[in-house]
Amino acid sequence: MSGWGGRHHQAAAADRGVAAGPATEPGGLAQDRDAAAIAAAMAAAAPPAPPAITATDALAALAACVREDLRLHGLAHLPPMTEARFVELAGCLGEIGLRTDLVIDPVQAEEERRRRSSSAAGRPVVYAPTELGFHTDRPTVDVIGWYCVEQDAEDGAVLLIDTSDLGEHFGAAEIAGLGRVELGYFQRDAHTGQEEARRAPLVAGGPRGHLLYYAPWLVVPESAGGEAALLLARFAAYVERKRETALVRIRLERGEALFVDNRRLLHARGNLSPSSRRHIVRLYIAWPASPAAAVGG
Ligand SMILES: [Fe+2]
Repeated sequence: MSGWGGRHHQAAAADRGVAAGPATEPGGLAQDRDAAAIAAAMAAAAPPAPPAITATDALAALAACVREDLRLHGLAHLPPMTEARFVELAGCLGEIGLRTDLVIDPVQAEEERRRRSSSAAGRPVVYAPTELGFHTDRPTVDVIGWYCVEQDAEDGAVLLIDTSDLGEHFGAAEIAGLGRVELGYFQRDAHTGQEEARRAPLVAGGPRGHLLYYAPWLVVPESAGGEAALLLARFAAYVERKRETALVRIRLERGEALFVDNRRLLHARGNLSPSSRRHIVRLYIAWPASPAAAVGG
């Protein structure tokens, strides 16, 4: 990611000197009235002073840059900032749906396993140190925001694969076939904390290209038989080839933030030590419903 250094510019706050008034001869009241009238006319003709630059404006400009990087690259990697600013920035991008503190914690890992209503085999738990294979998060999440509170002492990098070239590797009929493969996902009830099982296709059409939802451990078996099984195997091979040839590896430093397009990029993480102190704040963000709102956000 490049260009951030130059993007923190702010519109120069015009250092407007007060315009010199017309030279007036000292003298009578009529002259004073004329001078006042001229000054008033000049004030009316002058362009209005620009509104003061505020912290909110700067944040909105930053959010516009993040949106542009997400559109172009599927990700935006930002230099260190406070956690509060990261959350504010995420709020400018869309609606924040869920905040999770990702840490290695056996107690939370066990609680998470117990809470789940599904026994999806092999479904990884984020609080466990075991590696997480390539996947997207649930399809209701448009953008994932990660903020590094503390990084793992040895690694802790996020591994990413950009699938924007899917159409170059699969024909229209094959993509339609992948669209008939279903994967389960879980929507947690905000009140009860219980997870409700739902389904979504592996590939769906979207206004800006394919929208992906992939987590191999959540494939619905009855949607993945026969020809679909072959397509699914080809998709897994595509992911593996991309991992070998076009892997993006980002190891966030403390205070850095990373936003990724969850419907375009797959993400993964390697094994961590059970004693890892890695702490990443994760936000789930949904784009505003209206594109106009996204532009203005
Ligand atoms: Fe994930």
